[in-house]
Amino acid sequence: MELQNASTKAAMKQHLEAASAFIVEQDLVREWNDGAIYPAEMAFFLAMCAHQGVETVVESGRQDGYSTLVLGRWAKVQNKRAVSIDLELDPPRAAQCHARMKGLPIELVVGNAFGAIGRVLRSVRAKPFAYLLDGPKGIPAMSMIAASRGRNLRVAGIHNILTTDAEYPLLIERGCMFYEELEGGERWAKLHELESEFCRGSSRTLEKSQLGVIPRPRLPMLSPLYGVFQPFAVRAAWELGQYRNVERAGSLWGMMKLRRLRRSGATGAVE
Ligand SMILES: C[S@@+](CC[C@H](N)C(=O)[O-])C[C@H]1O[C@@H](n2cnc3c(N)ncnc32)[C@H](O)[C@@H]1O
Repeated sequence: MELQNASTKAAMKQHLEAASAFIVEQDLVREWNDGAIYPAEMAFFLAMCAHQGVETVVESGRQDGYSTLVLGRWAKVQNKRAVSIDLELDPPRAAQCHARMKGLPIELVVGNAFGAIGRVLRSVRAKPFAYLLDGPKGIPAMSMIAASRGRNLRVAGIHNILTTDAEYPLLIERGCMFYEELEGGERWAKLHELESEFCRGSSRTLEKSQLGVIPRPRLPMLSPLYGVFQPFAVRAAWELGQYRNVERAGSLWGMMKLRRLRRSGATGAVE
């Protein structure tokens, strides 16, 4: 998106103001829990969705459900559709998350996103839609975004993007943005003020946002970066209804990444 374009810049500022007001008025800053996407990052994502005329958001990775709660309220207030996918590997935590969504029009899917996104895609692609990917993230998330190309996908958000990631240069080249590039108004400033008060001491820095958002994503369908998880193959398998095969390829990708990390002496989870 050309942010140098004055009218786009002004339109995004207005959307950012409206999304910030929504988060603040719905008291969604105080609902935030550690480990979740930050309120200002969610406002930025919703502002981009408004700018791109998004009707449905498909989230992957809900855990305790903060981002899911924001999407559920958005769906309710704006009369939109929201779908959330998670593996739900921790049943008590999942039960609490479901209770948190009570009364909200959000479809809670339990399953592996590698297959579940392919299934959900069939029912959402008739209208402009967005992805919010917070598990799986990184390269497999990018591959699924690429595989959904040309299907009315208007916005793709990927969480926990760092400038040191191997995929960072490609994301930037393909238009990935962070909220620091935008200009906000009074409501955006108010949201930041509340956020820094409430989220102080959290496990992730508040200094630099980590939610990368790509308007009108056009990621390559084939690249060495994707390794065994090539978008053209993901797309073909989804089209053929071979969801389990995509899940297997996703697991294989995760195992290979873990192996590489171990070899390099690094530790860490692969989501
Ligand atoms: C960081 S948490 C999500 C936090 C949430 N988006 C928020 O902001 O409140 C990551 C979640 O991704 C889920 N996840 C990871 N890999 C997944 C996969 N392949 N399919 C579905 N869910 C997955 C995990 O179960 C976990 O609950």
